[in-house]
Amino acid sequence: MRKAWQLCMVVGCLALASTQLRASGGESPGEARFLDDLLARMTLEEKIGQLVLVSIGPSHPRDQVVSSIIEGKVGMMLNTVVREDIRELQRQAVEHSRLGIPLAFAFDVLHGQRTLFPIGLGLASTWDLPAIALSGRVAAREATADGLDITFAPMVDIGRDPRWGRMSEGFGEDTWLTARISETLVEAFQGDDLASPDSLMAVVKHFALYGAGEGGRDYAPAEMGRRQMREVHLPPYRAAIDVGAGGVMVALNSIDGMPATANRWLLDDLLRDEWGFRGLVISDHGAIGELISHGVAADAEQAARLAIQAGVDVDMNSEAYGPHLGGLVGRGELDPALIDRAARRVLATKYALGLFDDPYRRSGLSAEDALAFDDPSRLHRLEAREVARRSLVLLKNQRETLPLDRKARIAVVGPLAKSQADVLGSWSGAASPAQAVSLWQGLADARGGEEGLSYALGANFSDDPLVVDYLTTYSPEVKIDPRPAQVLRDEAVAAAGDADVVVAVVGESRGMSDESSSRSELDLPAAQAALVDALESTGKPLVVILMNGRPLTLERQAGQADALLETWFAGTEGGHAIADVLFGDFEPVGRLPVSFPRRVGQLPLYYALVPTGRPVDPLHPGKFTSRYFDVAGGPLFPFGFGLGYTDFSLSNPRLSSRVLPRDGRLEASVEVINQGKRRGSTVIQLYLRDPVASVTRPVRELEGFKRVTLDPGERTRVEFSIDPSMLAFYPGEGPLEAIEAGEFEVFLGQHAEDGEPLSFTLRP
Ligand code: NOJ
Repeated sequence: MRKAWQLCMVVGCLALASTQLRASGGESPGEARFLDDLLARMTLEEKIGQLVLVSIGPSHPRDQVVSSIIEGKVGMMLNTVVREDIRELQRQAVEHSRLGIPLAFAFDVLHGQRTLFPIGLGLASTWDLPAIALSGRVAAREATADGLDITFAPMVDIGRDPRWGRMSEGFGEDTWLTARISETLVEAFQGDDLASPDSLMAVVKHFALYGAGEGGRDYAPAEMGRRQMREVHLPPYRAAIDVGAGGVMVALNSIDGMPATANRWLLDDLLRDEWGFRGLVISDHGAIGELISHGVAADAEQAARLAIQAGVDVDMNSEAYGPHLGGLVGRGELDPALIDRAARRVLATKYALGLFDDPYRRSGLSAEDALAFDDPSRLHRLEAREVARRSLVLLKNQRETLPLDRKARIAVVGPLAKSQADVLGSWSGAASPAQAVSLWQGLADARGGEEGLSYALGANFSDDPLVVDYLTTYSPEVKIDPRPAQVLRDEAVAAAGDADVVVAVVGESRGMSDESSSRSELDLPAAQAALVDALESTGKPLVVILMNGRPLTLERQAGQADALLETWFAGTEGGHAIADVLFGDFEPVGRLPVSFPRRVGQLPLYYALVPTGRPVDPLHPGKFTSRYFDVAGGPLFPFGFGLGYTDFSLSNPRLSSRVLPRDGRLEASVEVINQGKRRGSTVIQLYLRDPVASVTRPVRELEGFKRVTLDPGERTRVEFSIDPSMLAFYPGEGPLEAIEAGEFEVFLGQHAEDGEPLSFTLRP
């Protein structure tokens, strides 16, 4: 019998495959014929097999998986990341299964594959879409060269509660910014044609509202009205779909009482009917089985039925679809058309990926395996360094502490100073920590050697037994120095004594900002805070370098440090990138994509608040206003904030007209002057406000930004176009947006608290 992929060669899939799997597009006639023919030849079991995604591991040993592949019981694979292994599994499917349907191989390529770029928050801090696109394209090239077809990315869950450890993966608190990054990354991963050997299909996740879990606890329910969902949380997923993301991964949490995995409103009404999504819907890991723990299914069979009826096409590692869908259909309890529908979507995905045309499209031929998977020459270090240095956010720099004199004697201390694993961040693809550049290494390379640098650990990540136990259990790379904390601190103070300047590298180990790593407090762990106290008391200039995957509460350290640089987890070239900025070879240009609270009790804290009936005036807070009386109002560092090595002032904001016609536009502009002594750049941000509307609207919303680079003394006028579509919002729970006539305010500034309003009127 002719195998499926051979058949495709006969009917000419190559030409047809150029029809990309587009959310809005349908099947071409040739594709429809091919899929009809293939489905007609498949048994029910083979169709169900296509809906099963597994990864080889302790519960699925390799031999067992290979047998299942041969029996046609597996459609997709996860976590096999070496092309020889992928090719061999593919060979089993293509040569030994009855119909020879190729497998599709997926992996979590979030911020790089072999070369890591900054974590999501770091990428967002660049405020530089071309740089973000570069990171996505490199990731796609490396991942497809490893034989992968699909990435479970981008992760575009809005994060407004930094207690949530997965905030690190996303792009921060802002809907508009996250949506722009979402579409940028999908396009970068997928390229122009999904069938290209270096195109990696994007599966946007986690649909939906995974970042809105109560109290920042991972997997916790999200409770909110649909208007708020549409306004704040849904646009970034929609943006990915609108530019053609091939897949959607379903969130693990429940939404208003119904787990996303069984949520017909979410997956059917909204995603398919309203948004017109035609691609693949994949469950999260084990999520179908978890419908039992959620309390909406009594057993795996019921869970399988609920999930497929809701519109989940693929079961990731739950073992619910494989064992149970056949029985449900056999007993007449499940419409077989649902299986056909889901199987067709899996096959259409493989078709779009070009796998029927050539199952080894990405894994290639063994003769082409010139390099070992971890060969250093495969890395894209230049690109990683370029993006990483754009992701660093300077939060404080008093008395021009930075840039440092390259010849200064520097004491480098802290648990993150020499770490190669942490700098990679969580979800570190298939990267090797041994290939990552620690800050210590970066400083040494920048100075041509270690002379003049001294090192002390200074503190463990934490001395709290609960935290230490968590880290050493789940992050094996974390090593705890058993010496007393005072001894470690004394060593650091001694190193500081012999130095001109102290660089303290503190924050979180990468495992502290990861899946299921929610924190109840956001302070620097006490052991590290005590280290910073001790270093401050030496009186030496103190540069605090932060590595962390979420905003921390840093009031104390922000007061103590002479310079404070947020570096997130900057990736493979992190150490070089940070050294570039410390020595002034590259200006810090990053801006925060998230507000930094002063205290954890302020959470959730974000700039786009809706006003209350009793708003607080920060200068005259008073009684009966909406605030915490025991903490100064607002964030420690606002959204959009970041310093450079020069200063800019903004003046003469102007509108081209006070009236915006319904079918027209107006220009908002501001003069920007570099008042400092160095060439540098800043990000001018455009915020809008609708002060009187049919529903209460945020006090500001980001609607655009532009970077300007100026020489000392140079000035320029930065201009933004405003059109009525930028004023649209959801007045009710339904899909219709409104643009209401009336007064609007425009703010042009360097962060979310900057700039005075200018008003214009939108004509009825
Ligand atoms: C669980 C995570 O929630 C999801 O983001 C990831 O893609 C899957 N595991 C697969 O690794």
